[in-house]
Amino acid sequence: MKNKSITSALEISKQDALKIFQLADKIKMGKVPKLKGKIALLFFEPSTRTFFSFYSAALLTGLTPIGFQSIEGTSVKKGESLIDTVRMFLGYGADCIVMRHPRAGAPLYIAERIDKPVINAGDDSREHPTQGLLDVYTIRERFGKIDGLRIGILGDLRYGRTPSSLAYLLSHWDTELVFIAPPLLQIDKRNDGMEMILRERDVKYEKREEVRVEDLDVLYVTRIQRERFPDEREYLKVRGAYRITRELLNRAKKDMIVMHPLPRVDELSPEVDRDERAWYFRQAENGLYVRAALFSLILGGWK
Ligand code: CP
Repeated sequence: MKNKSITSALEISKQDALKIFQLADKIKMGKVPKLKGKIALLFFEPSTRTFFSFYSAALLTGLTPIGFQSIEGTSVKKGESLIDTVRMFLGYGADCIVMRHPRAGAPLYIAERIDKPVINAGDDSREHPTQGLLDVYTIRERFGKIDGLRIGILGDLRYGRTPSSLAYLLSHWDTELVFIAPPLLQIDKRNDGMEMILRERDVKYEKREEVRVEDLDVLYVTRIQRERFPDEREYLKVRGAYRITRELLNRAKKDMIVMHPLPRVDELSPEVDRDERAWYFRQAENGLYVRAALFSLILGGWK
């Protein structure tokens, strides 16, 4: 990881991921490292989980969070450039920049121009590497392993940024991935080379349109992201294309888990929350421990 920045899940080795998971385990058990410094949370796009889990992780580890959750009220609204905005927070003592941005590649652009570490908290449809980390951490927590699992990734594989980061991290293990989506949202050459990367990494994967769950150990559901469709008519073609219900889960393995990066809209029925296979709220909570572990490793030095 250059300058200890994380701009893509492709920069995270298996060894890095395991180190993060081991530290997150300790933090979850109450053994919290004490850190000093400031974290700038610069969110140019809305967020609940990512912003507040990073914020909570900073408080938990003794760091001071500064920054903004929305560009409303900032001089971005007056046209201030991205690099100038970041420079201001470096001037106020930020030791690390955590940024979410609607432009793909914005965190990498900043990481190449400053000396402090940059963590990508989601850039357009491209990647969300810390979400991928907490997703794999949750799978490992549930099954005690990652190898040998068959993991279905369902939904908006075209505009979603969580499927790519998750798949890149899972490529370190011997898993089988099943990409489930309507043709318009399926992975292909439009996904920033994702399929090419998976082939290069010898990932076993298949694609299907039909929402079948009986052969899966994990069903990772994603929302169709209306806000990212350049053409509303395209969105209307796939709106409501799938919905996970208790009836569907009756056909799944008893020990399968349902995951979702959240927020959900209508693709995951609230009645599923009562099923013990619903793991999405535990998954979101794990964001706190995984992000605290990341702060510790990035600011405390990788050992
Ligand atoms: N999973 C996720 O990125 O959620 P937020 O958009 O609420 O941060």
